Amino acid sequence: MDQTRAPYFQALLDYVDAGVIPFHTPGHKQGIGMDRAFREFVGDNIASIDLTPMPGIDDLLQPAEALLEAQQLAAAAYGADRTYFLINGSTSGNQIMMMTAVNPGDLVAVPRNSHKSLLGSLVMSGARPLYMQPEVDEGLHMDHTVSPATVQQTLEAHPEIKAVYVVSPTYYGASADLQSIVRIVHAADKVLMVDEAWGPHFHFHPDLPLSATAAGADLCINSTHKMLSSFSQTAMLHQRGKRVRIDRLEAVLKLFLSTSPNLPMVASLDVARRQMATEGRELLSRTIELANQTRARLNEIDRVYCFGEELRGRPGVFDLDPTKVTITVKDLGYTGYEASEILRRRYNVQVELADLFNVVALFTIGTTQAAADRLVFGIHELAREDRPVDIFSPSGVLERRLKTGTFRLPQTPPMRMLPREAFLADTESVRFKSSKGRICAEVITPYPPGIPVISPGEEITKEVIDYLDLEIRAGVHMQGPFDRELKTIRVVASRQAAGIRDDEKRALKP
Ligand SMILES: Cc1ncc(COP(=O)(O)O)c(C=O)c1O
Repeated sequence: MDQTRAPYFQALLDYVDAGVIPFHTPGHKQGIGMDRAFREFVGDNIASIDLTPMPGIDDLLQPAEALLEAQQLAAAAYGADRTYFLINGSTSGNQIMMMTAVNPGDLVAVPRNSHKSLLGSLVMSGARPLYMQPEVDEGLHMDHTVSPATVQQTLEAHPEIKAVYVVSPTYYGASADLQSIVRIVHAADKVLMVDEAWGPHFHFHPDLPLSATAAGADLCINSTHKMLSSFSQTAMLHQRGKRVRIDRLEAVLKLFLSTSPNLPMVASLDVARRQMATEGRELLSRTIELANQTRARLNEIDRVYCFGEELRGRPGVFDLDPTKVTITVKDLGYTGYEASEILRRRYNVQVELADLFNVVALFTIGTTQAAADRLVFGIHELAREDRPVDIFSPSGVLERRLKTGTFRLPQTPPMRMLPREAFLADTESVRFKSSKGRICAEVITPYPPGIPVISPGEEITKEVIDYLDLEIRAGVHMQGPFDRELKTIRVVASRQAAGIRDDEKRALKP
């Protein structure tokens, strides 16, 4: 296939060139009716291609013309059998994969440290999750991917599992041994889904981890917007092989797509693919080199650590994406949150992620040498400041975490209802500290390590309450709960929870 073509982008340009008189949506009519200041800022061109599906422009829900060709080109570029363009990120990709691969009540093996969008996929599909523990790196205070051994043991212990879902790479760039996982999952004749939101660039450079499509995953998602050049919210879903029913996949896909997609977004996927297929290797070589150089410069700064090659081979780190530069600042006496704020306020540098000990800077094909220099300068200055290391003293938990170098998460609580049932049940808010024994209706995830302590459908145990109480007092960031301070917690209303009979509770035990 001719990867220099961008057929969908071209279809939009042809429409503009033809000077068609628009009696169709969107209402701004190629910019004419747009707010003036906004139009002046974004420019006429983008407004002129913000059109609607119509003959000649094709329909994302039923592609038959330029869009079909654009998706076929993307599939060929990624080594997939089929590729679908998404306009609601990998968030919708997770939901689509899960609703395609499993039926309500089916058991699906998933890592406990999955992205929060996994919960949406469990709620929508009605699947019963069986959590696999990721490999935890006590030295770095972070969790990596699940190992092939964990996948193997999980499948052996629960042959009724319908599908396996893994996340690779992690936010920090650790990649799983996907080839081995594919072999294990396929030997058991199950479907493998890979959340490869952070790896849309992998397929285009030999120095990057093996992509999920190359490894042979049945379904995988890429947040093209995260690491490549398409607009925010855009993503791709790739499918390979014969284990997934295409009619089911396409029916599910239609549930998640707007009938009025933003066409510049869709076109940005078409050109991002062209860019990777034609110049990806060269562009990514430069990016990898810049990231590696910057990592080396950062490592020269006293008390700053930026992990790299030495991580490869540790449990859960089969391979590493060098374009994610994790800067450990804890020995400077700063939390990652503080370092992130200082970098922004004083040095005008915004990192992608901050956690308790690290900040993560993403290097992509859009990162310049000047930007990298500024990052190094900011960290350099941060390291020169006299920071009293006792900032952690008010919080016993942070101190304990730093001293022990470990996160002793409480045991995953027993599941009393399916995530879907608990999430959609009538709920009430109760005092968190008196919530023991209630069924949780929300997910609560302290960052780091980003592993949910409790999820919808699970019983709130004393251990969970004690642990979260310590974390809250330590000022650890919580993701998920409606009441961020966790004075209250949303639980399944008593009436509804009382309705689950003991035999049903037993049935939920995997
Ligand atoms: C592992 C993982 N999966 C899925 C998502 C959701 O991706 P998107 O923001 O494209 O919807 C994210 C977002 O950060 C993520 O980290």
